[in-house]
Amino acid sequence: MTDRYAVMGNPIRHSMSPEIHRAFAREAGDDIEYTAIECPRDGFTDAVRTFREAGGRGLNVTAPFKLEAFRLAERRSERAEIAGSVNTLRLDGPMVLADNFDGVGLIRDIQVNLGYPIGGTRILLLGAGGAAHGLLQPLVDQRPTELVIANRSPERARDLAKLAGREKPVRGGGYDEIGDGTFELVINATSASMEGALPPLAATSFANGGIAYELAYGLGETPFLALARSAGAGRIVDGVGMLVEQAAEAFAWWRGYRPGTRAMIQTLTIPLV
Ligand code: ATR
Repeated sequence: MTDRYAVMGNPIRHSMSPEIHRAFAREAGDDIEYTAIECPRDGFTDAVRTFREAGGRGLNVTAPFKLEAFRLAERRSERAEIAGSVNTLRLDGPMVLADNFDGVGLIRDIQVNLGYPIGGTRILLLGAGGAAHGLLQPLVDQRPTELVIANRSPERARDLAKLAGREKPVRGGGYDEIGDGTFELVINATSASMEGALPPLAATSFANGGIAYELAYGLGETPFLALARSAGAGRIVDGVGMLVEQAAEAFAWWRGYRPGTRAMIQTLTIPLV
């Protein structure tokens, strides 16, 4: 019988995950079915149950369900536990297992694919939702000199910063609390770009020659990336590389085979400007 997998989110129609996982399966010589399922905002838990009862073996989870997926999981990896958010579920045993590969995917894309070491840099992380939760600890592990989290609702950013532990150089607050100085790495982990909006960020926050990383993908040059470019960032990138890297980690966890990522990233990359 064909093994069934899917990605769940809302909206989901622009997801590239089906294309990526089907290609990974071809490379691995595996017979799998992989679909995209749009769940009603209040219907995620029910959709997971239905998918599991129908023999579904694994799920990728995207916005806005990463925090809810964390809650419904019966066993979580240590990094998912720290993140308080999950992006991958395994359903093929007696329990729903959960992990979060967003952080490892982002770090791999920046350090291996783009060739920028993160250690010793100042990082500005925009957003404090499910995506930002998954990135916090993996970024801190790279030992930046400082990590500032800015969010529209400042309290959420402060709460997220606390999760890093008091001894770490991490603080959170509103956009008006970012302060002076520039950041070599600015990551947009808000969902603002999905609605063509720009978080209220000063152009002076971008370090000359630094990286502006947009987690969203397939949107071309978003307002965030346009601001970064005009402000002198050296590299503006969207989240295709991270998407492919986290997908490869998920595939390896489900199927025991880690597919190559470079050719896939090249295929899916759309020039931004
Ligand atoms: P995700 O899984 O993508 O993180 P989420 O958990 O719904 O989705 O979180 C969305 C994030 O984008 C939040 O940090 C949200 O800010 P609030 O916590 O204040 O809601 C942020 N966000 C959404 N739209 C935004 C906008 N137009 N400007 C700035 N931030 C925005």
